[in-house]
Amino acid sequence: MKRFIIVILVVIFIVSGCQKDAVIRETEIPVPTAALVSKPLSEQSVEEIVNNMSLVKKAAQMVQAERKSISPAEARSYGIGSVLSGGGSHPANNTPEGWAQMYNEYQSAMLKGNQIPILYGVDAVHGHNNVHGAVIFPHNIGLGATRNPELLFEIGKIVSSDVAATGIDWNFAPAVSVVQDIRWGRTYESFGEHPELQELLISSYVKGLTQFNVIATAKHFIGDGATRWDDKASGYKIDQGDAVISEEELKRIHLPGYLAAINAGADSIMVSFSSINGLKMHMNKALITDFLKGELKFEGIVVSDWEALHQLPGNFEQQVASCVNAGVDMLMEPNMWKQAITAIVNGVNNGTIPIERVNDAVTRIIRIKKKYKLFEEPLVEFDGSKFASEESKKVARQAVRESLVLLKNEGKVLPLKKNANILLLGPGINNTGYQCGGWSLEWQGTSDPSRIPGTTILQAFEEVASANGAKIITDPKQADKADVAVLVIGEKPYAEGVGDNGTLTLDSNTAMESNLDAVRAAAQTGLPVVTVMLAGRPMIITDEIENWDAFVMAWLPGSEGGAGIADVLYGDYNFTGKLPVTWPKDSSQFGYNVNSIDYNEEAVLFPYGFGLSY
Ligand code: GLC
Repeated sequence: MKRFIIVILVVIFIVSGCQKDAVIRETEIPVPTAALVSKPLSEQSVEEIVNNMSLVKKAAQMVQAERKSISPAEARSYGIGSVLSGGGSHPANNTPEGWAQMYNEYQSAMLKGNQIPILYGVDAVHGHNNVHGAVIFPHNIGLGATRNPELLFEIGKIVSSDVAATGIDWNFAPAVSVVQDIRWGRTYESFGEHPELQELLISSYVKGLTQFNVIATAKHFIGDGATRWDDKASGYKIDQGDAVISEEELKRIHLPGYLAAINAGADSIMVSFSSINGLKMHMNKALITDFLKGELKFEGIVVSDWEALHQLPGNFEQQVASCVNAGVDMLMEPNMWKQAITAIVNGVNNGTIPIERVNDAVTRIIRIKKKYKLFEEPLVEFDGSKFASEESKKVARQAVRESLVLLKNEGKVLPLKKNANILLLGPGINNTGYQCGGWSLEWQGTSDPSRIPGTTILQAFEEVASANGAKIITDPKQADKADVAVLVIGEKPYAEGVGDNGTLTLDSNTAMESNLDAVRAAAQTGLPVVTVMLAGRPMIITDEIENWDAFVMAWLPGSEGGAGIADVLYGDYNFTGKLPVTWPKDSSQFGYNVNSIDYNEEAVLFPYGFGLSY
């Protein structure tokens, strides 16, 4: 059958700056034909591929769309550079196989259209956490408490394997944020407040994350953890705000994680929503182009954050131009991806975006696609045997154990005796959603106790008790039958600015719903009280801790949280965790941390690095 090849050539004359405006509409996007490409892409050099591309094809290569807003057919016809799943954006069949199928649908469409394969990106920030059934690891703040780089490598390797098993090429992890004020909703995505933690852990983690041909991303460049509270610029209270900071402090505190990540092989860096001294990072050419790409010679892809360029001054086309000209190579434009393609083309045509900048961006993108074998092996052959293996659950359980920080243990109430009757109290005793926190199945995580397979504290305690002739009681009215009360309180799941919290009290906006009732109920039992906190950061408990005999910070331990907590509370393992952030006494100490000039360990409730053991 005679193939009708409709080739619409958009011919753009560039003569000494005088250029025709070519407004690109959907029908005008040329679908390349075999005739346009002399040999298979996999055999072409980066330069040949780039030189063969029209301006509109180059523009499409620089844009990342969200899966919900672009079909495989559209991806093919536009030649989009990348597709992502935002937090919680999963295929209808949310199984590893369903993900692999979705991935192959996109890549097969690209192949059919003789298009450059896409990069598919996800946030696998503590396991392949959008996928039902994935092993969910402790969030970074808990991993910071472990101070164990070998463990981080093992975790990274498992995450890389799970992500690769579903075909995904690009992981928007790790966050190398150095949290300075724990009121920030992304505190738990940070390894801690001292750059020594990022220097200690990021390199191993990135080496693990890249083990199975997955791109790692250091984020969010730069100084996302340094923003001030109550900055109204972004609509949140501190997230995406402004960091008022000297260059010396910025480089001393917030740069080490990037150096570690780049040296370990991270081939992508995501720019921060936030600003530095009033300048939005997404238009900060000095730091992105001159410093990161120039001085540090970063050769990978700089990607914008989710519609972050919309916060820049001007109309959309001006925002796109500012962002691209600052040095961003890939625009994460989940919904306005078509307009973004047009904006780049128009920007070049009207002289606001130099074609050299576009060529640099596309060259970087194609070079990375070649490095990660996208042209040779664009499709994934799903093998479920590797996903969420028993071995990976053991590593997750070990990570939980090593992340726990013992902050009080009077009268040696810990370790618990295995034959002791335990009264388990509080909203956190039986909920894997609370154990996992944000970025777990949904962007904001889930409070539904049934959605995330794993082991809760109640389940793990019941397993120990039943093997030792003891009882686990959950009814406070039967407190007289118990030897000790274990109270589990903390924060409900949240992500990003939604988690910004100005007081961090047990009844504040991110607190679990019945913390205070449970605290009171535990006190009324007259039993020794061991409190376990499930939270993304310290909460203000200066008064309450007086009535607790023991206190353990468990952070956001993930799907294997119950098992790991039981292992240590029953004494099978000792505590080794150390605080990765300062624990404030009260709200006057928010933002006061180990980097503060006048840091005084005696002044705070528990200082950075504190942790007891048996
Ligand atoms: C979010 C986050 C970023 C994430 C991206 C894609 O807004 O800031 O960390 O990688 O969008 O989900």
